[in-house]
Amino acid sequence: MANAEAISVICHGPGAWRLQLQPRGLHKLQQLLDRHSFWAQGRSRKALSQMLQGSQAVVSSWQGGALIGFGRATSDGLYRAVLWDVVVDSNHQGQGLGRRIVETLLQAPALRHVERTYLMTTNSSGFYSQLGFEPMGNQQLMLRKSS
Ligand SMILES: CC(C)(COP(=O)(O)OP(=O)(O)OC[C@H]1O[C@@H](n2cnc3c(N)ncnc32)[C@H](O)[C@@H]1OP(=O)(O)O)[C@@H](O)C(=O)NCCC(=O)NCCS
Repeated sequence: MANAEAISVICHGPGAWRLQLQPRGLHKLQQLLDRHSFWAQGRSRKALSQMLQGSQAVVSSWQGGALIGFGRATSDGLYRAVLWDVVVDSNHQGQGLGRRIVETLLQAPALRHVERTYLMTTNSSGFYSQLGFEPMGNQQLMLRKSS
């Protein structure tokens, strides 16, 4: 029988301390990213804590004690913001949860007045198009790797 427990979507402020301080919170985030993302695998709990401390908005989604969705953003609060690490547990994809997570991020205090919000995606542009994002034909994504 399907799990009928309610799904919650929580908007955290900078640092997402409620997520960090709950029992095994960072472990659950680590597992979600390891299992359901391809770019954020292998991050240590210490690194994830630092990542959250450097994020001005964080959204987590829960079913009971299970972390089933996540997204975060960096932002100057006024001019520019970037979404990062939007992930939904594969057992919950296709049910509108990713949309709820992105909409909650965009309404977070650190993002709601920002002039431009950017993101990078490999194969989910159709998902973000439905949320008001457009491909930038006239700009190039450039990358400098630290090693
Ligand atoms: C991409 C992701 C976050 C979407 O979350 P989700 O909960 O499955 O998406 P939703 O159910 O909210 O979908 C909203 C709409 O976007 C569409 N959509 C979802 N994923 C899509 C994709 N990859 N490409 C095109 N459209 C997509 C859905 O069909 C739905 O359209 P509808 O309203 O017409 O039915 C989720 O599939 C995921 O975590 N994927 C693995 C990690 C990943 O690639 N994240 C993106 C990082 S940039």
